[in-house]
Amino acid sequence: MAIIEKLHILRFRNLDNQYLEPNTNINLFVGGNGQGKTSLIEALYYLSHNRSFKSKKIKDVVPFEKEFLQIEAAVDGVRVLLKKSKHKSTILFNQKKVSSNSKLAQLTPIQIISPDRGFVVGGPPKLKRSYLDWGVFHVKPELLKTYKSYNKALKNTNTLLTNNNTKQLEYWFDQIATLSVEISSARSDYIQKLKKTPVVPLKELIKDGNNFDFLLQSGWTKDTNHLDKEDIYEYLIKNRGSFGKLKHLNYGPHKATIDYYFNNQNEHSLSRGEQKKMSIFYWIIQVLLLVELNIKPIVLIDDISSELDQEKINFLLRFLTKLETQIFITDIGNKALPMDKKRASTYEINKGIIAKN
Ligand SMILES: Nc1ncnc2c1ncn2[C@@H]1O[C@H](COP(=O)(O)OP(=O)(O)O)[C@@H](O)[C@H]1O
Ligand SMILES: [Mg+2]
Repeated sequence: MAIIEKLHILRFRNLDNQYLEPNTNINLFVGGNGQGKTSLIEALYYLSHNRSFKSKKIKDVVPFEKEFLQIEAAVDGVRVLLKKSKHKSTILFNQKKVSSNSKLAQLTPIQIISPDRGFVVGGPPKLKRSYLDWGVFHVKPELLKTYKSYNKALKNTNTLLTNNNTKQLEYWFDQIATLSVEISSARSDYIQKLKKTPVVPLKELIKDGNNFDFLLQSGWTKDTNHLDKEDIYEYLIKNRGSFGKLKHLNYGPHKATIDYYFNNQNEHSLSRGEQKKMSIFYWIIQVLLLVELNIKPIVLIDDISSELDQEKINFLLRFLTKLETQIFITDIGNKALPMDKKRASTYEINKGIIAKN
């Protein structure tokens, strides 16, 4: 169960030397536009991913005229330090160097809902893969190696296809086929787990009589069995010529996606509001599944009232309070949010200064 016990944002965007001892349940940050709400959410996300969901450039998140960003936290008793400049990234756990970002993600599993990150239902395949693989990673962390090997195999395959060098292609096709089956079967298993997650607590969101469904598209053509190595290998060999013309492999787990349906309607025919509601629904199912597996993710919600109407906010807050996960919410403060005072801390955020109420 992940709890951030202490948070010290030394430098991150407009946040300078801000120190918090967050509530183990709900933390609400209220502030006007441009005060630092998204920066705080982004800093927490950074603590788990060593990257931002808003910008790929490190320069954007390092405070203006400074050389590096630095965030420190105590998470489940581990002292984490993350310091990053354009040329160097340092992660320390209890003052010992940690070499991989995945250790951060494992220590601090973070689930985020933010307009800056986008919504999965009706969203781009890349975001859907990221949603899916976030879950796969937390359920089966050892698969990270497979993903890395697959990316390497894909890179080598694409280089050979670009250079028209077919000599080693069979070897790499074989690698792709093997690794691809591992990835696809882990993704299918995870989707099955998500489907079995009881959605009773979410009845208020999906009213009776409505139905929903989601399907994994493996990234291979419909007539290729994505769980059969031989079948994939044969498919690759047979279509070698067309991949050669394209100079890259345009099928495989790196092209996987999820198709969502609501009342048998395809996700793209839903209204923006429905897409948002369904995205929140899928996002909560994922949180529920991980809670069931005893991996309690920390939940981040940026700009809650701009994303949700009052009824859904009330539901979500009640629901998350009951789950007893740690939650960080930001809000502009126009509406009163129903908070259980015993389980919530509220803060004001003004020009990058965070003050507890
Ligand atoms: N790298 C940076 N260094 C310092 N300030 C920044 C940096 N990037 C953005 N800002 C400023 O931080 C402020 C807070 O932004 P943000 O957290 O997005 O506000 P909001 O409260 O509306 O979510 C803005 O005024 C923005 O201009
Ligand atoms: Mg914001």
